Amino acid sequence: MKIVAVSGSLRTESFNTRVAKLMAEQAPDGVEVQVLTLHGIPLYDGDLEENEGIPGAVESLRTAIKAADGLVLVTPEYNAGMPGVLKNALDWLTRPGEEMKPTFGGRKTALAGATPGAWGTALAQSGALINLRQLGVHLYPGYLRLSKVHESLGDDGADDKLKQQVRKWLAGFADYIRE
Ligand code: FNR
Repeated sequence: MKIVAVSGSLRTESFNTRVAKLMAEQAPDGVEVQVLTLHGIPLYDGDLEENEGIPGAVESLRTAIKAADGLVLVTPEYNAGMPGVLKNALDWLTRPGEEMKPTFGGRKTALAGATPGAWGTALAQSGALINLRQLGVHLYPGYLRLSKVHESLGDDGADDKLKQQVRKWLAGFADYIRE
């Protein structure tokens, strides 16, 4: 089974990208996690789309999502919402309009997120629900909300508790995909 984990942060030292990588490390037997970031995706601009078509970085991401059995969005929280870069990528991925359904319709999708703050990106994840509903994904009801992540994912890597938490959550998502 293949799962694509998309990090919503462009930062080199991003906790969310590191959590996505931890998912790849902690994947249960039979599950492969491919980590992707949103580098190279321009801001959505209808003129750009009309004149130059869908950017290559968007098409690559779409190809990876379509080839996967499951999609994880690992989102930071910016001002109680998902970062603009992640919303921007979702918007591009729904263009042209007829691509929305094959990209997202019925796709087994999970939300995860990490923050040094106290609430584990709960608000960003809640806010994303309205967008994911529009996209028509099948959303995994289990959530991975990592608060105080700088304490569990330090310079030496993830502590055992975090590794176990990520492994268990991913196993649950894999079961959901198999259902
Ligand atoms: C933040 N941060 C933040 N954290 C949080 O828990 N709730 C929030 O509403 C916000 N708001 C916010 C806005 C902006 C503009 C920035 C830059 C940051 C802090 C954020 O969680 C922290 O910078 C994370 O480290 C970002 O994720 P990555 O890049 O480490 O994956």
